[in-house]
Amino acid sequence: MRLKDKTAIVTGAAHGIGRAIAELYAAEGAAVLVADIDAEAGEETAAGIRGRGGAAAFERCDVSSKESVAAAVERAAGFHGRIDVLCNNAAYLGEFRGVLDATDDEWERCLHIQLLGTNNCTRAVLPYMIRQGGGSVVNIVSIQAMVGCPTSVAYTAAKSALLGFTLSAAYDYGPHNVRVNSLSPGPIQTRISPKPGEASYQWQCEQTLLKRVGNVREVAYAALFLASEESSFVTGVNLPVDGGWTAH
Ligand SMILES: NC(=O)c1ccc[n+]([C@@H]2O[C@H](COP(=O)([O-])OP(=O)(O)OC[C@H]3O[C@@H](n4cnc5c(N)ncnc54)[C@H](O)[C@@H]3O)[C@@H](O)[C@H]2O)c1
Repeated sequence: MRLKDKTAIVTGAAHGIGRAIAELYAAEGAAVLVADIDAEAGEETAAGIRGRGGAAAFERCDVSSKESVAAAVERAAGFHGRIDVLCNNAAYLGEFRGVLDATDDEWERCLHIQLLGTNNCTRAVLPYMIRQGGGSVVNIVSIQAMVGCPTSVAYTAAKSALLGFTLSAAYDYGPHNVRVNSLSPGPIQTRISPKPGEASYQWQCEQTLLKRVGNVREVAYAALFLASEESSFVTGVNLPVDGGWTAH
């Protein structure tokens, strides 16, 4: 039980990587708030955790709204009066385009959800973490913040900014024993990913040293390490979970 007696918030936990992180955190003993805009899938995630004996609740939360985030954090604090772990995973994953074609809407969503959403959530949990003498913030970034990838300028710019956000927050709140790290997934099979047989799937496999794509559980274990006391002297790092894509 690596997160026994801890309270964790995972944003974007209704699907994919966030869901796997919420499930693993709960399996390791945390009380988990599943925060997402998708109420049906979010309720299902939380119910699945409870069905396996874990502690979880769903809160409809749009991370780009400060009011929505405040309500979610209050709900999580209601579990045990503390917030130990925040995993900022929610992101806009729609149509991606290059500089000439990216729309204002695409830019706004990428900036307001992945970048400012991470700020909104971190800002809301920091007072708890400071008061209780520590905490761990895990930001889900992407290898697209580290290597060039096709036609995704707004997504890439927002994810790159999260690396700076991570360093800055780690610097400022380290003296309070609040650790802030990021984790950069490579190609991970989720509902948004290319499917086996597609040319882009094969291309992704070829970019990694392991010659395959990853699964959500492989990201969740890295997020567990960064959340738990096992990483108690680790802050301000970006951990690629990418099968070696960025290793060459
Ligand atoms: N799948 C990959 O290959 C991959 C690679 C690199 C990085 N990532 C990152 O991993 C994270 C999860 O991606 P995924 O592949 O699981 O995608 P996904 O679409 O399955 O999950 C994203 C979740 O975020 C939620 N969400 C969207 N907007 C939100 C908002 N405003 N407020 C709250 N929740 C919101 C969605 O409802 C969804 O549940 C993202 O940050 C993504 O950028 C994924």
